[in-house]
Amino acid sequence: MTAAAQAQTPSRSALDLGQAVELVSKEEGHRQPLAPEFVSLEDFSPLEVAYDFGRITRAEIEAGPRSIWRYKKLLPVPSSVDRIANTEPGCTRLLRADNLAKALGVKQIWIKDDTGNPTHSFKDRVVAVALAAAREFGFKLLACPSTGNLANAVASAASRAGWDSVVLVPKTLEQAKIMMTAVYDGSLLAVDGNYDDVNRLATELAGEHEDWAFVNVNVRPYYSEGSKTLAFEVAEQLGWRLPEQIVVPIASGSQLTKVHKGFNELGEVGLVEPSPVRICGAQAAGCSPVSTAFKEGTDVVQPQRPETIARSLAIGAPADGPYVLDTVHKTGGVVEDVTDEEVVEGIRLLARTEGIFAETAGGVTVANAKKMFESGQLDPDQETVLLITGDGLKTMDAVTEHVGPKATVAPNTEAVDAALGL
Ligand SMILES: Cc1ncc(COP(=O)(O)O)c(C=O)c1O
Repeated sequence: MTAAAQAQTPSRSALDLGQAVELVSKEEGHRQPLAPEFVSLEDFSPLEVAYDFGRITRAEIEAGPRSIWRYKKLLPVPSSVDRIANTEPGCTRLLRADNLAKALGVKQIWIKDDTGNPTHSFKDRVVAVALAAAREFGFKLLACPSTGNLANAVASAASRAGWDSVVLVPKTLEQAKIMMTAVYDGSLLAVDGNYDDVNRLATELAGEHEDWAFVNVNVRPYYSEGSKTLAFEVAEQLGWRLPEQIVVPIASGSQLTKVHKGFNELGEVGLVEPSPVRICGAQAAGCSPVSTAFKEGTDVVQPQRPETIARSLAIGAPADGPYVLDTVHKTGGVVEDVTDEEVVEGIRLLARTEGIFAETAGGVTVANAKKMFESGQLDPDQETVLLITGDGLKTMDAVTEHVGPKATVAPNTEAVDAALGL
């Protein structure tokens, strides 16, 4: 452990991160004590949380709060987490999407609708876990580089905790995401560069400000565990069983790998009967480093310069790219990409068929699922879950050119009838 990490680490007996016991390096499995560190100094690979789960029953989870804290025994958070101010995300809807399934000519689709989280994206899940762990390590300031949704979640969670926040975003971000961060009154900085520039800057800042908890840098091993709760909820909402296929949007790739880890852990602790889940990744063609590597059959993810309307997914050098490829290969899945036009069609198809307005990342998921069914990469006879991870109100500019009132009419019935062709 570095001196900096030691300064942020209470004595081991005071540290309560639930059933989490150690950090383990992803490449060679080197073990080290729990600390705010994200790279193994032994093999330079990312660190991941390891647990000693003990006994966990469905009944105790079902008796828990209606938030991700019902799964606290499967997360690196203190046992008292549900009694401390945080954002209480999770327990979002899992909808049977029969209209969408019919439109695509497939048997069964479920939508995991994470637009219902406190700041309207799945990022509330990862930030809530990061905040809980950061508090245990003695931090008092939450920070992040972000493509938008994380900025919203970090600024909101810091305010709720009574902490300061420092949030760095590319200056080209959608206006809604900038306002939805600024309103919480932390320090929001718009950086003159793309996300990869912002991320590099944050990594440098994390080295200089060791008392800042950068949720997706020095606290990343804890933060990323929050994405497992998507898998936990899907399984519980299906009646404690796993789906056969799932489509997950990819930016850094963390979510996809952790959804897989979540399904596996449910099997390990006996909460579900283990069964294979084909994990598929979705990208936009204008930022498709992982799908390009997948299609070229290599495990080397070459960085790209992003150019897409799916700005929340615009990470040209995804930290977990190689682990996404590994997960997808192991589970028999694929990684695909779609054009920006298809992203808009995906948003509109979901809205038209299921009444859900997703942000561009959701359009990426739906459009990729359509493409994967059409090409036979997804099995139309298997039960499929689509992760809709953010709200369309955040990316209105993607659809403003394409939708609007049918007509502007005078306030009388004849005008309405005429406009509707009645
Ligand atoms: C709405 C939305 N979905 C999915 C993702 C992908 O997350 P990850 O970086 O874990 O791959 C992001 C990332 O910012 C996002 O904002």
